[in-house]
Amino acid sequence: MSNFQVKFYSGETIPLELHKVRIVQKLHLVPIERRLEAINEAGFNTFGLKTTDVFLDMLTDSGTNAMSDNQLASMMRADDAYAGSQSFIRLEQAVQDVLDKKYFLPTHQGRAAENVLAAAYVRKGSRIPMNYHFTTALAHITERGGQIVELLYPEAYKLKSSHPFKGNMNLEALEEYIQKHGKITIPYIRMEASTNLIGGQPFSIENLRAVRSIADKYGIRLVLDASLLGENAFLVKEREEEFKDASLADIIKIMTGLADLVYFSARKLSSSRGGGICTNDETIYKELEALIPLYEGFLTYGGISTREIEAMAVGLYETQDETIISQSPAFISYFVREAEKRGISMVTPAGVLGAHVNAMDFCPHVPQTQYPAGALAAAFFLISGVRGMERGSISNQRDEYGNETYADMELLRLAVPRRVFTLSQINYVIDRLSWLYDNRDLIGGLKFVYEPPVLRFFMGRLAPVSDWPQKLLAKFREDFGDSL
Ligand code: F0G
Repeated sequence: MSNFQVKFYSGETIPLELHKVRIVQKLHLVPIERRLEAINEAGFNTFGLKTTDVFLDMLTDSGTNAMSDNQLASMMRADDAYAGSQSFIRLEQAVQDVLDKKYFLPTHQGRAAENVLAAAYVRKGSRIPMNYHFTTALAHITERGGQIVELLYPEAYKLKSSHPFKGNMNLEALEEYIQKHGKITIPYIRMEASTNLIGGQPFSIENLRAVRSIADKYGIRLVLDASLLGENAFLVKEREEEFKDASLADIIKIMTGLADLVYFSARKLSSSRGGGICTNDETIYKELEALIPLYEGFLTYGGISTREIEAMAVGLYETQDETIISQSPAFISYFVREAEKRGISMVTPAGVLGAHVNAMDFCPHVPQTQYPAGALAAAFFLISGVRGMERGSISNQRDEYGNETYADMELLRLAVPRRVFTLSQINYVIDRLSWLYDNRDLIGGLKFVYEPPVLRFFMGRLAPVSDWPQKLLAKFREDFGDSL
């Protein structure tokens, strides 16, 4: 239990908001008939929806975490100089203070850092071992002719588990892989904090230390994707005995200290926009430096507005604050517990970023060829106005021969951005999810009608394989009358 979890006299476990709401934004809960039109217009892809049709936007936590009063205040002092901006100097200092890295290269977001890394280090035939891929990391590596290998332990693929660190690298498999292919083909090992696509699952520091030893043994660099580092650090504090009394600030520094190069999406890590790469190794810095003005912008803004640079600096310091970082995981843990009580199959243990519904269990009658997670995302939007994200086979890319590669997991991710939603809104989501679960037989499959060549999940358009959406609408009206 986090230090900040407040005990209730009633004995209930309720995550309590440790912030107050001072700026609010109106939401739109439109009738189900309009929602059916909207999802049709969106090509049954929740990325295609407009927020005027969306009630609770649980698509992502990327750029959607609530910003703090101090972040907004800092934006007012932004120094809009092309070169040598004071805003950048403040950010560099924050990177030094929080991530403990001397050299910082700004990028406009996380995938831009991945592009720079791939441009510098990935060649045809390169192999990148990692705990698990993220969509954009994979796309940049394969675009440059490299390939990846995912080396998790078998436990990570069990959606229902009590393993506290499903994001751990399989150490034996990593060593075997390096011995088999030789270090010469492996430019770096990638570790992703709070491994996104397996349900926001952390790795332990014990595991990261062991990966570091292997990297040292073979002389291979270790790269840390720190986009969800704060949350991984928080779960280390909660779940790893050695760190139960450590501060988040110290845990974060231990983690970044084990990597040669750290990159991140600031859209996630610091509740702002932007991204970056940092290191203490001057050689690495020099290898990457020239690519920033080429792809991003000059070294002291990297394609990010100086206002966001100021907010990023403050957001980085706030990543050390447990009352801020614990909020989303605490809500997710409540969400998962309540959903499971209603019989819904969720990824456990509850991770970070969002609550993840196991679509293969939710609608076992929809075959993987008809994208159960995408179908569930569309059906759930239809009956609730809540926009989640498909994280299954639609999010996978085809192999080099153009064949479908079915995902290890078919998940509906319902993101819980930091300090954005209230508990009654989370209760609404659980209520509607529970109704859909009781009516799950009405959910049908999807097929592609337009499939873009890269990152198809963003712009792809799909259609239902039958008139199942209309049937779901009719049942909703039967059960809820004229309720929104
Ligand atoms: N790495 C991880 C682990 C991420 O989760 C993301 C983005 C990126 C890199 C890329 O960063 O979006 O700033 O370019 N994740 C978002 C998500 C998109 O919804 O999970 P970006």
